[in-house]
Amino acid sequence: MNLHDEPTLRRRELLLAGAASAAATVPTLAEAQDGQRAAPEVPVTSSVTLEVNGTPRTLNVDTRTTLLDALRENLHLTGTKKGCDQGQCGACTVLVNGRRTVSCLSLAVMHPGAKVTTIEGLGTPKRLHPMQAAFIKHDGYQCGFCTPGQICSAVAVLDEIRRDVPSHATSDLNARPVLSAAELRERMSGNLCRCGAYSNIVDAISEVGGVKA
Ligand code: FES
Ligand code: FES
Repeated sequence: MNLHDEPTLRRRELLLAGAASAAATVPTLAEAQDGQRAAPEVPVTSSVTLEVNGTPRTLNVDTRTTLLDALRENLHLTGTKKGCDQGQCGACTVLVNGRRTVSCLSLAVMHPGAKVTTIEGLGTPKRLHPMQAAFIKHDGYQCGFCTPGQICSAVAVLDEIRRDVPSHATSDLNARPVLSAAELRERMSGNLCRCGAYSNIVDAISEVGGVKA
């Protein structure tokens, strides 16, 4: 071997080593399809302070944590239910600054300083919120799974009507919305009840709203 061969050999070795290493690191199609060789996940966390049911709570959460999971898993407020976890059933409805929010579709870190009210913050077994009392009086539930979301939504619905927020069922957008069964059914349509307690739910909300359904 003369002096001129050495760089050539080194280049060859380097190329061979590079090819072998690329083969080892590039996932096969099958591996890519079933996600076997995905890069290890490093969660990004962030601190957020929420006022939950009147108490400031500071959480250090993965930034992908939904408001629903923060309430249930971090704060153990399990009154808020996880039904579909994709915005279809309304079981996870809570109030954020007084407005109803589907908490499974919202990230906890999106609400710094927000006032969050869950079913536990609306009333207690000894001091029921009027909406909770009306649901009991009118049998507005059977299994009860959807009920926390229904009640949080119902409280916000009456507030929306008071604030003249129209719905799809409002016939005259220039007039104040009327608290009717049709309005309530439309406004509560995002809260599903597999037990079918809808009629009694409308009766309960109507009573709290001061009308007869
Ligand atoms: S759990 Fe959030 S909408 Fe169903
Ligand atoms: S009371 Fe059972 S789902 Fe509504």
